[in-house]
Amino acid sequence: MDYDTVFAKVIAKQWNALAVEEQRQANTKPNRQGRLAPDDPDSFALVDSYNYQRGHIDVFEEVYKQANHYPPKKYERLIVVDIGAGAATVAVALHEALSRTKCKRIDYLAFDPHPMMQKLGKQVLKHLDAGFRTATYIESLDEVGFTRAARVLFTFSYVAHQETVTPSDINEWASLIKRAVCDTDRAVELMYTTAAKLKGRGAHLDLYRKLSRAKVIRKCHSVSVEVQRRFPNSVDSKRKETWRKSTEHWQVEAGHWILSK
Ligand SMILES: C[S@@+](CC[C@H](N)C(=O)[O-])C[C@H]1O[C@@H](n2cnc3c(N)ncnc32)[C@H](O)[C@@H]1O
Repeated sequence: MDYDTVFAKVIAKQWNALAVEEQRQANTKPNRQGRLAPDDPDSFALVDSYNYQRGHIDVFEEVYKQANHYPPKKYERLIVVDIGAGAATVAVALHEALSRTKCKRIDYLAFDPHPMMQKLGKQVLKHLDAGFRTATYIESLDEVGFTRAARVLFTFSYVAHQETVTPSDINEWASLIKRAVCDTDRAVELMYTTAAKLKGRGAHLDLYRKLSRAKVIRKCHSVSVEVQRRFPNSVDSKRKETWRKSTEHWQVEAGHWILSK
């Protein structure tokens, strides 16, 4: 199913079912700027997905294309580890960017600490039915395993500036990425997107320093993205969503790293 129909069935439907006062509070909570703590109310996860998921998908899809990532070939297996996955944003972008035959070669692993994001993401994956080899929300990054022949892509879509990302999270991400580099024979890739106005700060910079010290980064490109902002029209959640295009573009900082032993 296409995302615009899934959006109406899953996200708009639950957003429209909230009481007006709950919607107002979720919409007007000051200074959140997309930051979501694991104990924030479900309505915050809903409002973020409602307002921004379409945009984050558009941006990731463009980064994926600009990075010239080779889609998995016949007999190849690509493991995508989506950290701070929200409601499975990267899975939707891959579904839109690749044919079903290529999606069948992908194991999509989503990790997100917010229970409502996990719930929405599982519903999005089910309705999308993208044909991935597997598509799972994992409880802990310790669950991720690699095989020698697998290709691996780590994704961080709008997660680098979350206030709840701690130095211990960044250590854990670096260890996992180093483990992927050690356990596989193929180059490991990483793509991130984040808001450009926060340039000069963010977890991706600490992660880069750690992986550089471990001498596993081979190439590192910044990716320039020009994507028009799109927002939901006021939805009839029984139909496919149509989107209101803004004249502005998303202001994005994005990167693509290639890592190996
Ligand atoms: C702005 S949303 C982006 C969601 C999704 N990746 C997207 O692009 O639509 C940030 C996500 O990061 C998650 N998050 C916050 N702290 C995190 C942490 N320490 N580790 C992993 N994810 C985290 C939040 O639960 C939230 O879903």
